[in-house]
Amino acid sequence: MTISLNTLARRGAQVLALTALTALTALAASMASAQTPGKLKVGLMLPYTGTFASLGNAIENGFRQHVTELGGKISGREVEYFKVDDESDPSKATDNVNKLIKRDQVDVLIGTVHSGVAMAMAKAAKESGTLLIVPNAGADAVTGAMCAQNIFRSSFSNWQPGYAMGEVMAKKGIKKVVTITWKYAAGDESVRGFKESFEKGGGTVVKELSLPFPGVEFQGLLTEIAAAKPDAVFTFFAGGGAVKFVKDYAAAGLKKSIPLYGSGFLTDGTLDAQGEAADGLFTALHYADSLGTKRDNAFRLTYAKTYKLQPDVYAVQGYDAAQMLAIGLNATKGDASKAAEISAALGKATIDSPRGPFTISKAHNPVQDFYLRQVGAKENKKVGIASAKLEDPARGCKL
Ligand code: PHB
Repeated sequence: MTISLNTLARRGAQVLALTALTALTALAASMASAQTPGKLKVGLMLPYTGTFASLGNAIENGFRQHVTELGGKISGREVEYFKVDDESDPSKATDNVNKLIKRDQVDVLIGTVHSGVAMAMAKAAKESGTLLIVPNAGADAVTGAMCAQNIFRSSFSNWQPGYAMGEVMAKKGIKKVVTITWKYAAGDESVRGFKESFEKGGGTVVKELSLPFPGVEFQGLLTEIAAAKPDAVFTFFAGGGAVKFVKDYAAAGLKKSIPLYGSGFLTDGTLDAQGEAADGLFTALHYADSLGTKRDNAFRLTYAKTYKLQPDVYAVQGYDAAQMLAIGLNATKGDASKAAEISAALGKATIDSPRGPFTISKAHNPVQDFYLRQVGAKENKKVGIASAKLEDPARGCKL
């Protein structure tokens, strides 16, 4: 076959044009991707079943509420959710968190409620470098011995509410206390925080009672409390277990003779189910139902309208996890892998929370006020400050 010079020239020009077009298309695509980065994959690992199910739902609701306020985007990236029900089961936690890290390749992990599960998440986050924001679990180690550049908490350490309540009870002149809780990190550490300040203030813990998580067979332990005749009881229970404990305590006739105090989870998100049995109880927590600030009123109104539910501390912690994520990612143009920059941005920030403004400690835990609250008319009413700007001691953290 013979090809004329003319034809050759035409083909050459076509090839050149095609090459130029391909290059231009690639350039346009890369410019577009620079302007609209991919979706931000958010992995929610929370309990959606079991004694903490309502807590997990409230955290997700709060998180979504803030993302909606941001137009569904954080730092220009559309938020895409991936969800795992962790069942508050530490034995499944490593497999569960790896579903989000390895299978779904999320940019950030949000979770969880249970301290034992959270410690497995923190270990996996540390090893993989995935950004983690803990929206509840108080395990002291998460912002203590296990602390890391890429691990943050929007909630509290177990030590904090226990310590705050111990200060209040010692100041009231209470001398002899029995403690009762679930035997796992959150229970043990709440009691340890309580004991630290209560004994410093002149009180004595005469007996420490516990039962395995998430058990609710309280009768034998209530009999022991009655026999010990302490001045008061300090407790940590939460969720479904807290509902049953408060009802059983009242039904056993102990409420009038031996005042019951707790970290505020005892009566948060539980008052409808607890009914009169919770009336009058004093607790300490970093949130209360009737703060009456503009910020909190607006948050509560939107939450109630959106979810047809009253918000609680868990909803606030979920909301603030989204606020912290946005502050961190705004400093990195949406890049969740830049832990040092995220840490620096959050270290300088004041989080404008419905609970009141708070800052983030060097170990990445909130430094915040703990309110003294009393239950009345189905609300945890703020009656004072139990401990102002309380900072976790972050024992063992080297950051
Ligand atoms: C925890 O396991 O750390 C925990 C669970 C429920 C709460 C508070 C702390 O309400």
